[in-house]
Amino acid sequence: MKRVITIDGPSGAGKSTMAKEIARRLGFEYLDTGALYRAVALYLRDRGYDEGITDNKLREELKGVSVSFKGGKVFLLDRDVSDKIRTPEIGHYSSVFSARPVVREFLLDLQRDFAKNHDTVAEGRDMGTVVFPEADCKFFLDASPEERARRRFLQLKAMGKEITEEEALRDVLERDRRDLSRDVAPLKKADDAIYVDTTELSLEETVDFLLKQISNNCGRLSR
Ligand code: DC
Repeated sequence: MKRVITIDGPSGAGKSTMAKEIARRLGFEYLDTGALYRAVALYLRDRGYDEGITDNKLREELKGVSVSFKGGKVFLLDRDVSDKIRTPEIGHYSSVFSARPVVREFLLDLQRDFAKNHDTVAEGRDMGTVVFPEADCKFFLDASPEERARRRFLQLKAMGKEITEEEALRDVLERDRRDLSRDVAPLKKADDAIYVDTTELSLEETVDFLLKQISNNCGRLSR
């Protein structure tokens, strides 16, 4: 395995921005695993499925799916779906389907294979606990639900998506509940992950803090 940095945390904690920036600064590849779950959800929704889909049907459907992540973009059956996956509906269903062991199993090797070929900054919910337990450096990014909802609201608004701040907060709380309570790979800080509360931190402050940790406390990544 090449060098791996993991960034886990709840939705809206700033993982994507941070993972992209840290990858850019260190010359690593960035892997957005939420985008993989979203691409699977898009595929299943396009085929008319919801939470009622049985495990057998899921297994069968996933045989026809190929998902990949390259250069910051996610591809479903070789089609770039990076924009299509960023809707509240797909956000909701990615959370629903990601609770299914069949889906998690399907994406596991894909994520590990990515890191076999590139030095990687991987962001998601179970990077440090399940997918890359041997990572060189692990972070758990957090922020208050209100602050995460505010960031989500601004992000969606900038993309021209219709949403109110109340809806964003409801969404964040609902997603937390589901991500924390599922049986398989629930959102959980790895014992050896560095906890970072970003509620009061600017992006620059968070980047600086992470880079400092990487150069001082991260095994073969430290100077
Ligand atoms: O980070 P995001 O909002 O794009 O993720 C979408 C959903 O995918 C999220 O509700 C939880 C799920 N997810 C997961 O279960 N495990 C991951 N490693 C990444 C995302």
